[in-house]
Amino acid sequence: MYKIENHLVSDATRAYAHLDEAGYQAMYRQSLEQPEQFWAEQAKRFLTWEQPWSKVHESDLSQGQAAWFIDGKLNVSVNCIDRHLPSRGEQTAIIWEGDEPTDDARISYRELHEKVCRLANVLKARGVKKGDRVCLYMPMIPEAAYAMLACARIGAVHSVVFGGFSPDALRDRILDADCQVVITADEGVRGSKKVPLKQNVEKALKDCPNVHSVVTVQRTGADIPWHEHRDLWYHDAIAGVSADCAAEPMDSEDPLFILYTSGSTGKPKGVLHTTGGYLLGAAMTHHYVFDYHEGETYWCTADIGWITGHSYIVYGPLCNGATTLMFEGVPTYPDASRCWQVVDKHKVNIFYTAPTAIRALMAKGDEYVTSASRTSLRLLGSVGEPINPEAWEWYFHVVGDSRCPIVDTWWQTETGAIMITPLPGATNLKPGSATRPFFGVEPALVDPEGNELEGPASGNLIIKRSWPSQIRTVYGDHQRLIDTYFSAYKGVYFTGDGARRDEDGYYWITGRVDDVLNVSGHRIGTAEVESALVLHDAVAEAAVVGCPHDIKGQAIYAFVMPMHDIEPSDALVAELKAFVAEQVGAFARPEFIQWTPGLPKTRSGKIMRRILRKIACDELDTLGDTSTLADPSVVDELIAQRLNRA
Ligand code: WTA
Repeated sequence: MYKIENHLVSDATRAYAHLDEAGYQAMYRQSLEQPEQFWAEQAKRFLTWEQPWSKVHESDLSQGQAAWFIDGKLNVSVNCIDRHLPSRGEQTAIIWEGDEPTDDARISYRELHEKVCRLANVLKARGVKKGDRVCLYMPMIPEAAYAMLACARIGAVHSVVFGGFSPDALRDRILDADCQVVITADEGVRGSKKVPLKQNVEKALKDCPNVHSVVTVQRTGADIPWHEHRDLWYHDAIAGVSADCAAEPMDSEDPLFILYTSGSTGKPKGVLHTTGGYLLGAAMTHHYVFDYHEGETYWCTADIGWITGHSYIVYGPLCNGATTLMFEGVPTYPDASRCWQVVDKHKVNIFYTAPTAIRALMAKGDEYVTSASRTSLRLLGSVGEPINPEAWEWYFHVVGDSRCPIVDTWWQTETGAIMITPLPGATNLKPGSATRPFFGVEPALVDPEGNELEGPASGNLIIKRSWPSQIRTVYGDHQRLIDTYFSAYKGVYFTGDGARRDEDGYYWITGRVDDVLNVSGHRIGTAEVESALVLHDAVAEAAVVGCPHDIKGQAIYAFVMPMHDIEPSDALVAELKAFVAEQVGAFARPEFIQWTPGLPKTRSGKIMRRILRKIACDELDTLGDTSTLADPSVVDELIAQRLNRA
């Protein structure tokens, strides 16, 4: 065990960094006190505009409304590609590391330009116009980035659906956004296992009559279902079109993408991000938080199916002209040294991953790390869930050789970019704390009544003012945006997270305060798992909560009431777990399924999740008051049969 201690900014880090403490303080102050001036400067510095804005910003958070760089025009693909061509056309934009260690590729900015233009022309030839939605269901191959940028080039709105989602989940997302084109691959490959992407698309499309075109990248050469008029091979299609495609000038507030995420209620929300503000948020945080310097190689291990992949594999790094590494595989294949082998092979300077991966690798032992040199590493990052101090210290001492600062970055799909984070040259680190707000971010803690808490305190985390990369709407349902984020506390953004602020003003995120679980950094709504369970014939009712898990952070614990004529069995438990994996995706498979003759409900029929959570976490001494239950005896039975015991 390493001693848990605070880590001061080293002289070497400070000397190298874009900003020191005084620099952070000055910029942060300006960002709050003179926001118009501050953001105008940053938007000019980080982005190339075709037409300047007439007004920097306008918002009314009580209506969930925000607009940035109003009337400004720009194109995201021009910012991520074209403008780099004169100075770094031959520089590598994307390093692709395949699932097998022998499989890799380097794509220069010039090649990226050609690939993106060709695919954009293919989409145009299929009738895709500005504002149309295109669904991407892709493995981690460069074509996924080409597809995102091709959409951006012609003003189409992409909706990337994580390749681990089931056909049903894919269908729901295609229908919700009314996508008419899908881009996919024959199969994905992860840890030597094949993922039948095109087959899944085929199943999903049975219920999507509006999809008229499916572009398929050939990754494995597997046999796949094919429809003559609807389907086209990516390689055939791009060969037949021009390598030039004029970029569509987009309004700063035109939509860039939709990304579905889980909330407390059943249906996933289509988080909509727009053009100027989002790109600025992604680029500026990539520059300052990762302290990116020209010529460095940067690796974010996320999947492009999640927001982290959008902002920190594709948009942020490419907007800054960086070299970004995209990894197809998993950290444990061929063995647990893979990440560090890749770091050595490609001389990675900046490495950004999730606590669940850190904990999984930590459990395998130090030798897998120390067998690689890792001398190129300069900075480490963490995202997606709270990082426990033990994992933090291991990451720092073993992976980073006690030399690389760790940026623990707190943010969300809805925030578009990093919000609370250390800056390596400025912020002394405390393991487990995301530390302080990024520029323009004004966080606060409130009690359940909405009273703002001062000084050191614990409460619900809110953001008090609009920031450029914030969510603009829930696709097709603006009222849901207002209800979810801007109603709990009037006129401010409610994050859904709880946090503590210490005596130094550092924030410690404690996790979700709503019914959203975080399993291995994947956001899952309890309601999604519950709806999947009750679809099964054997299930009458189900309630799902989270319980702590050493590697995954949180695991899914389901309480299931069988239909009256069903005899619970281990075989049925296995079947239900597989059923959820099939309905939602393998990452949503419950860890525990406990049978119960009834669920604890209030007299008005509401399930008392608080009690279920305590039982699932084996925290019986803090069960609280059960006297308001319709039938308190249910609780004794649930406790007696509980599965997750210390
Ligand atoms: C959690 C991922 C603690 C948090 C970028 C948030 C974190 C949810 C951190 C968003 C962190 C993310 N420390 N918790 N550094 N980063 N979270 O939308 O609960 O997939 O609300 O975005 O992840 O997950 P999402």
